[in-house]
Amino acid sequence: MPFDTGKPEMTAEEFRLLRDFVYGHCGILVRDDMKFVMQRRLWPRLEALGLADFSAYYRYLRFDAQRRAELETAIEALTTHETYFFREPRQLKAFSEEVLPQLERRNARTKRLRIWSAGCSSGEEAYTVAMLLKDSGRFEGWDVEVHGTDISRRVLVAARAGEYGPSALRATPPDKIARYFIHVGPNRVRVRDDVRAWVTFGHHNLQEPDSGQIGSRMDVVFCRNVMIYFDTPARQRVLRLIYDKLVPGGYLLLGHSENLINLSADFELVHLRSDLVYRKPEGGL
Ligand SMILES: C[S@@+](CC[C@H](N)C(=O)[O-])C[C@H]1O[C@@H](n2cnc3c(N)ncnc32)[C@H](O)[C@@H]1O
Repeated sequence: MPFDTGKPEMTAEEFRLLRDFVYGHCGILVRDDMKFVMQRRLWPRLEALGLADFSAYYRYLRFDAQRRAELETAIEALTTHETYFFREPRQLKAFSEEVLPQLERRNARTKRLRIWSAGCSSGEEAYTVAMLLKDSGRFEGWDVEVHGTDISRRVLVAARAGEYGPSALRATPPDKIARYFIHVGPNRVRVRDDVRAWVTFGHHNLQEPDSGQIGSRMDVVFCRNVMIYFDTPARQRVLRLIYDKLVPGGYLLLGHSENLINLSADFELVHLRSDLVYRKPEGGL
């Protein structure tokens, strides 16, 4: 039924179909009270594809030859990619001062370090981690890889470019800006090459474990502010995947508003001086 705006309204049934389809693909739960948000964000897609209503859009997502690309565009419209450098400093302090010295000792023989930024958005988190590794001075000459992954190909393009404006730098201490960025234009900086050399990016859907190449076992996984968009079963799927990808004794760092209560008993909670973090037990397989 057209609005006075001339745009088709999303029926309750169309909302349910689209919501379940998005959830099935990427675990993002669009809450019942978000019908109007979903409708508003998907209107431009109906317009772009010349479709009359949301039922036609749902059929397009299910059956059209271009359905995979369109599903990515729809998910893009429904997700948030909010992130910035040096986010959650207390946790980063714990990581730098307590986790990194331990990793240096543990991996002294192999001189190899693997860190995963799962749900990395435009790359600020992965680069922040690489900068902290540089700051520590512990890993020069090591085989280091910070691997950022995300479901959105658009943010990965930005991540690989490694160029940012003021909003991305809003929590970055001036000495870090001076040391790790070069100015490439008015209000525009690029991450220095020695930091970028440690960072790679890849496409990966955390709800489809085999969707991308995660590679070898990780010493630390940052999965911050990603699971907040998932419901319990989807969170549990991600946690099982992360558990499998971590080395025994490896760390899981969540966002400050997230925890594993009622989600997983597989990880142990570790009280560090500046923060609480999770760890896969040493005996874990
Ligand atoms: C709010 S950002 C968090 C970025 C960064 N981790 C931080 O804390 O600053 C959440 C990211 O998770 C990604 N995401 C959502 N669902 C995903 C999924 N199923 N698989 C992989 N990434 C996903 C989104 O595309 C988005 O870039």
